Amino acid sequence: MDLFSRIAGSYDKLIRGFALDSIKEFLKLEPDKLLLDLGGGTGRVSVAIDEQVNGCILLDRSFEMLQQASKKSRTLYLVQGVGENLPFKYGTIPQMFANDTLHHIRQQRETLSECYQALSYDGKMIIREYDPKYWKTKFLIFFEKVLLFGSTFLSPQQLEDICLNLGFSVDWQRLSKSTYLLNAKKSN
Ligand SMILES: C[S@@+](CC[C@H](N)C(=O)[O-])C[C@H]1O[C@@H](n2cnc3c(N)ncnc32)[C@H](O)[C@@H]1O
Repeated sequence: MDLFSRIAGSYDKLIRGFALDSIKEFLKLEPDKLLLDLGGGTGRVSVAIDEQVNGCILLDRSFEMLQQASKKSRTLYLVQGVGENLPFKYGTIPQMFANDTLHHIRQQRETLSECYQALSYDGKMIIREYDPKYWKTKFLIFFEKVLLFGSTFLSPQQLEDICLNLGFSVDWQRLSKSTYLLNAKKSN
C-alpha cells in the first residue's frame, strides 16, 4: 500500500490548506465543460470546484484517497487509475487540473503525453506546482524525501519544455514565490 493510501484518513488534517479561492480567477474554468481533476486525492479541490464546471471526474491512483472523496460528495465521478495510462478516449476531456500532483507521479512525461491524448481539441491542462529553486520548496523536497515519497519537482521552465515538446502551447505564472500555475493548451 502506498503512502497516500496509508494516510488517506488523515490527509486533510495533515496537509496544509492552500488558497484555492484566490487562484480560481487564474484557472479560468469553463462552466459548461467537464473537468478532470488529475490525482485529485481526497477531493479537496474537486469538491470546491464541482459546481463551477459541468461535471467533475476525480482520478487518483489510491482507492483509499477516493474513499475519502466519496464521503464528501455524491456528484463527483470517482475513477481509480494512473496518469500514465488514462482510461479516457482520445480527445474527450475538455479541461484538466492537477494540483500538487505532478511531482508525485513517477513517469511525468508519459502522463503529460496521456493528458495531451485525452484532451479535446482546444482543451487545456492546468498544473499547479512548486518551483524547486525556492527555499520553501527545498524544505518540502527534504520532507518528502524523508517520507520516501519519491517526488520529482520540475521548474516551470522544465515543465514548459516538456509540454512544448508534446505539442502544447504553454504559458505560466507565479502564484507565490514558491508556487506556479502552468496552463498548457492543445491546439491541434
Ligand atoms: C499531494 S496529493 C494531492 C491531492 C489533490 N490534488 C489535492 O490537491 O489535495 C497527490 C495525489 O496524487 C496521487 N497520485 C500519485 N501518483 C499518481 C499517479 N501516477 N496517477 C494518479 N494519481 C497519482 C496520490 O494518490 C495523491 O492522492
